[in-house]
Amino acid sequence: MHPGAGGPPAATLRAVSTEERTPRGLGDIITTARPFDEYRAMFDLTEDELLAGPILDCPGGAGDFGEGVRAMGGTVISVDPVYGTPLEDFLEAARRDTHTGNRYVIEHPHLYVMGFFHDTDDHLARRLAGLERFAAGFRGPGPFHVAASLPHLPFPDGHVRLALSAHLMFTYPDHLDRNTHLASLRELLRVASEEVRVFPLLDTTLQRVPYFDDLLAQLAADGVRAEIRRVPYEWQRGADEMLVLRHG
Ligand SMILES: C[S@@+](CC[C@H](N)C(=O)[O-])C[C@H]1O[C@@H](n2cnc3c(N)ncnc32)[C@H](O)[C@@H]1O
Repeated sequence: MHPGAGGPPAATLRAVSTEERTPRGLGDIITTARPFDEYRAMFDLTEDELLAGPILDCPGGAGDFGEGVRAMGGTVISVDPVYGTPLEDFLEAARRDTHTGNRYVIEHPHLYVMGFFHDTDDHLARRLAGLERFAAGFRGPGPFHVAASLPHLPFPDGHVRLALSAHLMFTYPDHLDRNTHLASLRELLRVASEEVRVFPLLDTTLQRVPYFDDLLAQLAADGVRAEIRRVPYEWQRGADEMLVLRHG
């Protein structure tokens, strides 16, 4: 472990401050519990890709993706700042957040497409089931669960083969500003020897951040190849694409 390895000093970066924030959509960052099959679909992951080498999942939230991959014989390191809080507090908050997320879907039906989930009850039940599987596997911070925050990951360069990041970047632009997005993408690229995948590319009101193309231009200048790839999963309406980044 190399705390803070490779990232620029925190003082040069900032998240959007509370005063500057214009809450939009879901508002606060919630801790979600997406089940393994949902994760696999939204990142369009084949069995070979799941088993080809260590995977970083940041933020890991309270979902059971890591448990699912470990059951297949693979390795996932999940990173989330919430893993630094006492387990019962964090699980209680995640259960509450799962209900908050479900309520947001019920109140904003035009923003969602039924299909992966049959209806809002199915959404709640499968997310809660994922959370309980996560809870059964989580025994506090350790080799598979690391408490840390983007844009600084406590890993050496190329520590994992593939880095996944879901429902933080691009989802909460009222919490993370442009520079934090750029620094976070660079940090994920630093720790991933082969590839970074980010999903979704829209926020909770289905908008794309206005500086999206600018971020890709900055990464291209770093020598990073970017591809926007369609995935076989749509839950937020129209959010069926992921960003794939590879070292040039
Ligand atoms: C909506 S959840 C997404 C979890 C999971 N990736 C998913 O798709 O279900 C957002 C998570 O981001 C975490 N988070 C907030 N700020 C973060 C940061 N700076 N770096 C990493 N994770 C962060 C929160 O603790 C929360 O668990």
